[in-house]
Amino acid sequence: MSIKKKLGSIVISLAMISIFSCVNLDAGAVQKNSERELALIDKLHEIADPSLSPEQRADLVISKMSLEDRIRIIGGYQRFYIKGFAEYGLRDVEMADATMGLRNHGRVTAFPMAIVMASTWNRDLIFQTGNTVAKECRAKGVDVLLGPGVNIYRVPNNGRNYEYFGEDPYLAAQLSGEYIKGIQDLGIMAVVKHFVADNSDFDRHRMSSDVDERTLNEIYYPAFKNAVQNAGVKSVMTAYNPVNGVSASENTQIIGTLNNKWGFKGIVMADWESVYNAYEPFVAGLDLEMPGPRFFNAKNLIPLLEEGKITEEQLNNKVKRILSTCFSLGIYDRPAVDSNFAAHSDENRAVAMKVAHEGIILLKNKDNILPVTEKVKKIAIVGPRAKNTPSTGFGAGMVTVPEDAKVDFYTGIKAAAGEGVDVRKVGASSKFAREADVVFVCVGFSGWLEMESMDRDWEMPSSHVRTIKRAAKNNPNTVVLITAGGGVETESWINDVAGVVHTFYLGEPRGTAIADIIYGDVNPSGKLPYTMVKRYEDLPASEYYLPEGKKLFRFPRLALNGSKVLRKIWHVEYKEGIYLGYRHHDTFNVAPQFEFGFGLSYTTFDIKNAKLSATEISGDQSITVTVDVTNTGDRAGSEVVQLYVADKESSLDRPAQELKNFEKVFLEPGETKSVTMTISKDALSYFDPAVDSWVAESGEFEIRLGNSSRNISQTLTFNYKK
Ligand code: GLC
Repeated sequence: MSIKKKLGSIVISLAMISIFSCVNLDAGAVQKNSERELALIDKLHEIADPSLSPEQRADLVISKMSLEDRIRIIGGYQRFYIKGFAEYGLRDVEMADATMGLRNHGRVTAFPMAIVMASTWNRDLIFQTGNTVAKECRAKGVDVLLGPGVNIYRVPNNGRNYEYFGEDPYLAAQLSGEYIKGIQDLGIMAVVKHFVADNSDFDRHRMSSDVDERTLNEIYYPAFKNAVQNAGVKSVMTAYNPVNGVSASENTQIIGTLNNKWGFKGIVMADWESVYNAYEPFVAGLDLEMPGPRFFNAKNLIPLLEEGKITEEQLNNKVKRILSTCFSLGIYDRPAVDSNFAAHSDENRAVAMKVAHEGIILLKNKDNILPVTEKVKKIAIVGPRAKNTPSTGFGAGMVTVPEDAKVDFYTGIKAAAGEGVDVRKVGASSKFAREADVVFVCVGFSGWLEMESMDRDWEMPSSHVRTIKRAAKNNPNTVVLITAGGGVETESWINDVAGVVHTFYLGEPRGTAIADIIYGDVNPSGKLPYTMVKRYEDLPASEYYLPEGKKLFRFPRLALNGSKVLRKIWHVEYKEGIYLGYRHHDTFNVAPQFEFGFGLSYTTFDIKNAKLSATEISGDQSITVTVDVTNTGDRAGSEVVQLYVADKESSLDRPAQELKNFEKVFLEPGETKSVTMTISKDALSYFDPAVDSWVAESGEFEIRLGNSSRNISQTLTFNYKK
């Protein structure tokens, strides 16, 4: 890396530490005391009988609250709280980041990134993940988990792709929905974020995502809509970015859709420092400003009330949404800390390990160089990510791995090596690397390069690529372990190496998990939740990602709040529309490096004997697909059967195919299981802006079954009649 880039990285780090240190208040800024909390509960129950509905109870408390207190509660408190009021028996409600576990809460489980959760394609496991994070919230006295983040992967550059679930709206919706159910199952409030079209962190307060209504509904809304309508999420966090020129926290188009079209009744909260006015967000439907009452305060709101520009009814409705949502989860009726739950327990850590095992993706395995066999006696570990392997990107989502739980790639691979195996950390050109039986090259990004509030390059640092090429030149048995939160450039080196494993950022499991995979103790089953392209210009959004003249700059744009002048909004038009990822590649025949849904295994599978329950359905009828999956290899493993739907004729243009169901199945060698999936007219529909609704047209549809978007092994057709 050039001196300039190094200097840039150092400056970034300082900038980022300064940005995040101000938000990294130690947990428990508000002291918890169960004695005091139990007394508050008694007080609350005098005012609002717990046998009444959450809404009735909220009305009773509101009837007691002064105007000042009703204004105060919608303004956030101590950066991570909803303020409590002893006189009404309401304790402080604590929030914490985020999807991968509890940030700034001492010894907790640091999960693999959300993108790794997406790569597992395992609904049950992601429910269990959410449930485990909820257990740690209860143990630590956190009531609100500021996750999951579900923003769609539009470009690999986005500094926060690692916090989200990939490019496909159905996959993101299904898995984040399970995560939300897991969180709320234990009375913890989930907050689905960042609403909406937050697909870059570059200049995030000013870069407007300009997205047409059909693209919003087919690509960027679905994970949020599923969270609201199917997973019952209790809170939605609006994004920093403007949408179609209006900041998300005051955007009547998107908040109106959320509340009025989807029927959301929970808390609409703003991202931290993403409110820029008092009146506009208030009337647009924002319920809670965070991290404090910068705009939602008496000084601003009382004059608006007196002028009749806003009403007490509107204010009370916001307070009611906050209180009734907390009542619905039992938050005000229990002490914050529950010692029946534990954080960082072996049970919790085992769930994180399972996510890592099932999310690591084997992308290339020439001549079955992996798994390492007993013939391998010399293993060279090369590259800048071998030691102190990054466990996370940098930002609000990061979780600290306890010191005594840190295992980097070198340590993990060395610790798991068999008897008499010589494992050394060496240079790519050393005699040892030249003569080793296998060379692992550990490269990629880190929290210093892939972080919140800025975007990254697609290419890995050039010195990393040089290390790959040097190692491969000296030894053909070279395997690359990629540390990154999304896609990277591969075309310049992929043909030089024998193996490639995408390891993302694995949280605490890191070196142990990758050792389990490369030694074959675990058979990889991860599948790409996004497309990896050969050339940057193959990306459908590549020509629209940054408008003319805007260059990626390394210095994160500090949150320029408050001033409209400094916050001059500029526009990014999502001209690729619905043709994102495989929807683009499969429709316009652009061959990717690795396709959406792709991932290798150490065994092989057959997907056959697909059958449909009918050849024609109509109206709201659903159709059932059954298909046999056989493990035709000699090692147990899991396969993900993916179901894509193709509309053979439609009034509007449509992608060649779209993911509409999937099932992951574990099989012993030789075992066959029958997998059943159903689809209904929702899976056949497209959004028609002309009628502002989803439309399923009569006609022929194809159901395509395979283990990736491009490896389709069974195709069936049926007719749908409206
Ligand atoms: C951050 C993030 C958001 C996080 C919040 C609180 O800036 O955008 O994801 O939950 O602020 O830390």
